[in-house]
Amino acid sequence: MDSHIPMADMAPAFPFQRTCPFHPPPQYAAARAAAPVCPVTLWNGKRAWLVLRHVEVREVLSDDTRFSGAMADPDFPAITPARVTVDKNERAFVGMDNPDHDAYRRLFTREFSVRRMLALKPQISAIAEQLLDEIEAHGPPADLVAMLAVKFPSLVMSALFGSPYEDHEFIIRCAVARHGLTQSVEEAEVKARELAAYVRRLIDTKEARPGDDMVSRIIEEHVRPGKLSRDDFAEIGAMILRAGHDTTTNMIGMGTLLLLQNDAMRRRLAADPALIDGAVEELLRFVSPVQYSPRRVAKEDVVIGGVTIPKGEGVFMPLASANRDERMFDAPDTLDITRDASQHLAFGFGIHQCLGQMLARYELQIVYTAILRRLPNLRLAVPLEEIRFKHDMQIYGVHNLPVAW
Ligand code: HEM
Repeated sequence: MDSHIPMADMAPAFPFQRTCPFHPPPQYAAARAAAPVCPVTLWNGKRAWLVLRHVEVREVLSDDTRFSGAMADPDFPAITPARVTVDKNERAFVGMDNPDHDAYRRLFTREFSVRRMLALKPQISAIAEQLLDEIEAHGPPADLVAMLAVKFPSLVMSALFGSPYEDHEFIIRCAVARHGLTQSVEEAEVKARELAAYVRRLIDTKEARPGDDMVSRIIEEHVRPGKLSRDDFAEIGAMILRAGHDTTTNMIGMGTLLLLQNDAMRRRLAADPALIDGAVEELLRFVSPVQYSPRRVAKEDVVIGGVTIPKGEGVFMPLASANRDERMFDAPDTLDITRDASQHLAFGFGIHQCLGQMLARYELQIVYTAILRRLPNLRLAVPLEEIRFKHDMQIYGVHNLPVAW
């Protein structure tokens, strides 16, 4: 072994803790300055590798010959014991390598096409306005997480996917059971199975009574012609539902809080809504809510940034580190909605790059603009110390955001 690579028992324990709620753990910057790749020790004593700089993260994520994303692989690195179980049972394409990944993903790309997303925009705007009507009617103080950040993506997913809105609390419970850091193995397993079973029942319902929604269209285009089994569709549908809820919710909560903390920036954006597209990219860069994915396992010994990652060892690519890499972004720890943040990796990179990214962008552009227009004097209704940050979750954000206006 190269002399400059520490043994597993000398490698620091991962994950690291944040010391400031608005920034990633400080160990990322320190390690990034020292080397592009750094060894860590996981909860089970196994060694894994953190790839911390923008250029190497792209290198690993583009290389699906030497790095596998097969979650069922016993060497695939997991952040908690529950995650091992969840990964082992993942049947959707997020956990597959090629050629299977592309074969399945291709069946769903039209559902997330520019045309489909543009057609959905008026509905997304109407949902934002409706929720802000409810907030205005409720009056201050209101918890923006409960009243907006959670409900908004649920209503949008309901319109797109075809899941009845009444089921959104169940869907969120299933998503959160997977994204928590403290849940039991049993809880994670049960909730993963329950959500797939739910989508399987929804497929039966839509086969009998089709609507204008994703489930009905996929049945017609791919299930009936025999290109996709109902069970595979149930697993993929469950993954899409989970992915569509929690991530956007956290960007709404955390992004709004950041704008409230930066009053001049908030006023500037409110005065010039044309800045919104760039502002959303910068907020995505700055927050990078997906904390412990993407992950891969080395299929052979691979040298990355001069460091050998041995065959069978796991790799984490904390996107919050790549998105704060000073080699890519000037003053990366400064939030600046006027910078060009378009190279951020908050949606991942390579074959598993987020399928819902256009939807997420439209949702965020619409919802932040509506919040700033409808609640121009928005402010926190409690001291910052009373905001509970999601240190306990794999998707980072805030549990509560009491606001007044
Ligand atoms: C701000 C919101 C979002 C963020 C930050 C985000 C982030 C990500 C990231 C980092 C990945 C890559 C994971 C990996 O490589 O292991 C991913 C994959 C994925 N995302 Fe998102 N996502 C968001 C919203 C959405 C939405 C709204 C949907 C769908 C409705 C969605 C559907 C998916 C799917 C299906 C994948 C798997 C793609 C594949 O494996 O080919 N995401 N997302």
